[in-house]
This record gives sequence, C-alpha cells and structure tokens, in this order.
Amino acid sequence: MSMTQTLTLRRPDDWHLHLRDGAMLEAVLPETTRHFARAIVMPNLVPPVVTMADATSYKARILAAMPEGARFTPLMTLYLTENTDPDDLTRAYASGLISAVKLYPAGATTNSASGVADFDKVRAVLERMAEIGCPLCVHGEVTDREIDIFDREAVFIDRVLDPIRKSTPELKVVMEHITTKNGADYVKANAERLGATITVQHLMLDRNDMLVGGMRPHYYCLPILKRREHREALLAAATSGDARFFLGTDSAPHPSHAKEAECCAAGCFTAPVALACLAHSFEEAGALDKLEGFTSLHGPAFYGLPANEETITLTKSDTPAHFPKQIPNGDDPITVFDPGTPVFWAVSNSSSL
Ligand code: DOR
Ligand code: ZN
Repeated sequence: MSMTQTLTLRRPDDWHLHLRDGAMLEAVLPETTRHFARAIVMPNLVPPVVTMADATSYKARILAAMPEGARFTPLMTLYLTENTDPDDLTRAYASGLISAVKLYPAGATTNSASGVADFDKVRAVLERMAEIGCPLCVHGEVTDREIDIFDREAVFIDRVLDPIRKSTPELKVVMEHITTKNGADYVKANAERLGATITVQHLMLDRNDMLVGGMRPHYYCLPILKRREHREALLAAATSGDARFFLGTDSAPHPSHAKEAECCAAGCFTAPVALACLAHSFEEAGALDKLEGFTSLHGPAFYGLPANEETITLTKSDTPAHFPKQIPNGDDPITVFDPGTPVFWAVSNSSSL
C-alpha cells in the first residue's frame, strides 16, 4: 500500500543565499527560483558588491539569468568595508535596491578579505544604518589565530556583537547562520531588533557527521559544524515557533573539485534539497506545524515585508526521495548536499514552476 502525506506552505524565502556570478550563477539560480520567492543575496563576490553601483549591476545580472517564467525577487545586500560611504549606502537602501548590509570580519570565510578588521572604523556607518532602519547581517566569527575554530562564534558574541548592539541599540541585526547554543541563547535573551538565520546543515548534522570515519568535505562550511548539543539547541530554536529564528540556507556552491581538494572550500550547496530536508527534520522533531513559520513567515516579518501569497506543496512518500547528486556547471559540476539519511519528503508542486 502506498502511503502519502502532503504539506502545503506559503511559498518560502531564503534569508541567506550565495548566488555567485557568471556561469555558476546561471547554474544555481534555477535551484532557488524553483522553490523560493525571494532571497537575501550575499555580496561576497570577487571583487565584492560594495557600492550602490555594484549592487545595481549584480542585480541586473541575476535578473538576466532568471529561468523562463520564474517569479523570484533577489533582495540585494552591500558588503561592508572600512571605506563604505554612508551616503551611498543610504541611497541604495532608500531606493529599495538593497535590503541589508553584510558584515564579514576580515578573513572569516570565502572571499572575506575586504571585510572589517577594525570595528571602530565602521561605527559611523552602523549609526547611519540604525537611523535609516537598514538591517545588518552579521557573519559572527572572530578570526584571531588564538581562538579555536569551534569557539569563534561564542567569542564573537561577547567581544564584538554585544558591544556593537550596546553602543548602537537601534541597529537591527541578523545573526547569520547561527551554529551554537550560545547563539540561540543570545537571541532569546535579547528581544529587541535581533533575529537569526539557521541553515539546513546545522539543523541536521553535527561535527561527528563531518569527521568520524573519514572527513566529508561536502559537510565543511563556515561557521563549522559544532558538537551535538549545539545542533539540538538550534533544532529546538527553529521548531519552537519563536519568530526571531528563520531560514537562511547559506547555500554556497563551489565546484566539486574545489570541495574534494587538499584545502577544501567552505560551503554546502543545499538549495535543491533544503525544503525536503527541513520537512524531514521538523517532522522528526514533532514540529511539522512550525515549518511554515520558519520558512515563510518569520523572515518577512523581521524584514518588514509581506508574506508570500503563493504556496508550495511537499509530499511524503513511503520510499526515499531521489535527489540529483550533482548539478551541471560547465566542466565543473556542483555536488548537492546529501544529509546522509533517507529523506521521504520532496517538493511536489510549486506554484511558480
Ligand atoms: O561555508 C561558507 N561558505 N560560509 C560562508 O560564510 C561563505 C560561504 C561561501 O561563500 O562559500
Ligand atoms: Zn553565507
């Protein structure tokens, strides 16, 4: 007997996404537009998207790469540098071109060399953002050599984030891709103007999944997967219904050869499977009824946007769903995230297909 169950949600948004540029943009964009209505697009290109002019042309390249018939809105961001011009940022935000500004500590992750080293140098820009209501999306890791990679998020909260929030209390902040109980607890303890995105891989995996029995490069991302108790705290936060937590996949494509390398690039390409995986995890947590809030309601509420009117339907089958192992990208295919556990859910109908 075949047993199916369906789940219909308002069409989701992705509040943290890497779309890249050029051929890779064309390869990965359909994987997001198929399921998501909007996405906050990360600015860490080489060179980064720093000015209003940069964001204008990057947005045009994204729109030019859109698959036929897709209905998708890229929500652009600027990459904060120590030289960011507050007036240019203000114009970009007031015109509706950008939805947020991204803070990368210098050297924290892929293409973050132009990030912020001296936080005093961006003080004036942060004040301006607080004034105009522009949210700051934060990659929350310190980069000091002395700090162990597994502690970098917790130390960032104490040393950098909390001081910024205390000195600029009106600033709206999104802690991007939180990976620790410390991150979830910090959000819960600070109700005002603070939200957090959580990725699929951090809800499904812990560092043992990445390291025990062999190193799995496709699970390597930044911030790095942490120990199990952190995954459990993130899953509890995501499934709690608390509107301060919402989906940001951080889907971060790299060619498979760059992942399966002596020095493996950071990032998990989750866009094609994100919703199926989330349905799996939320069901396992007994919280399928909380999925729509996490994927489709809490993010728009935080950003002051309406929720989407269209819907998407997921179907659960009694046999595991088949997902592509890779997607083509010229001569450099991109490996799709595989959670390592059978997933019985799949998107069966998206109103914008
Ligand atoms: O794993 C990651 N990959 N973390 C980031 O912060 C950046 C991203 C990328 O751009 O590849
Ligand atoms: Zn990211």
